[in-house]
Amino acid sequence: MSFSALPKIGMGTFRLKGNDARDAVKSALSLGYRHIDTAQMYGNEAEVGDGITSSGIPRREIFLTTKIWHDQLHTSDLINSLHDSLARLKTDHVDLALIHWPSPDDEVSMKEYLGALRDAQHEGLAEHIGISNFTCAQMDEAKDILGDAPIFTNQVEVHPFLANRDVVEHAKKLGITVTGYMPLAVGKVMEDETLQRIAAARNVTAAQIAIAWVASRGVVPIPSSTRPTHQKANLEALEIALSEEEIRAIDALDRNERIANPGFAPAWD
Ligand SMILES: NC(=O)c1ccc[n+]([C@@H]2O[C@H](COP(=O)([O-])OP(=O)(O)OC[C@H]3O[C@@H](n4cnc5c(N)ncnc54)[C@H](OP(=O)(O)O)[C@@H]3O)[C@@H](O)[C@H]2O)c1
Repeated sequence: MSFSALPKIGMGTFRLKGNDARDAVKSALSLGYRHIDTAQMYGNEAEVGDGITSSGIPRREIFLTTKIWHDQLHTSDLINSLHDSLARLKTDHVDLALIHWPSPDDEVSMKEYLGALRDAQHEGLAEHIGISNFTCAQMDEAKDILGDAPIFTNQVEVHPFLANRDVVEHAKKLGITVTGYMPLAVGKVMEDETLQRIAAARNVTAAQIAIAWVASRGVVPIPSSTRPTHQKANLEALEIALSEEEIRAIDALDRNERIANPGFAPAWD
């Protein structure tokens, strides 16, 4: 099966190791997730591959993403590292290969690493290609370099405390779907009173309200959970249609609070 669009929600796997990663992927797939997000840097591609294999769900029905780390951006490194990822994941291709972070200080030119990513796609290693943690200017540059070749997504941090409006709007203008990572602000959304109030009125949880809000913006959330009950709740959150008033209240929680901000990050918009 070839995916023409990103499935509406994915299961994140950052921080999941060993059996936790295997079990979480297997249980997510059994609950109905068909979109799994990993990365070379997470050190769990082998376990994610095991989880997929043991789930009994045919590989072709699963949208699988991995990300290339920033020390593998030279052409031959990128291609070789993607071959290594595929071996660990026990598959012959990923559905989406992302550049995890733009090259710090442009040490490797964008032209080189996006060209290599395109070569990898032509070789069949990745069905679709995309970017992660790219600013508006970097999205423009990527568009110029790739020309007609579609950029399937820009995966960036999005949660009620970091709406990331400029990037989301700009991506929309360029026809790039945004994937929202850390949609639960790694647990902080559960402690927020506004989200708790909206959740209580609907008899759902604050986590579900955060996911519904991300999805309401046309952004694809990829929450991570080790617990089947949370995984199920997160999947069901897509069915929540927030009112305009609820959306306005959640919009007002934006405080530009960035959680993923390593020293090599670009100057954010
Ligand atoms: N591209 C990038 O640079 C980048 C950076 C960071 C993350 N990501 C991706 O985004 C994914 C999500 O981000 P994240 O894992 O850092 O954070 P997150 O999804 O915002 O939060 C995960 C935390 O929320 C808890 N949780 C999940 N569902 C819950 C629910 N329904 N109720 C209560 N608690 C719940 C989990 O605990 P339990 O396990 O106990 O449920 C876990 O501690 C990552 O796994 C990764 O795939 C990408």
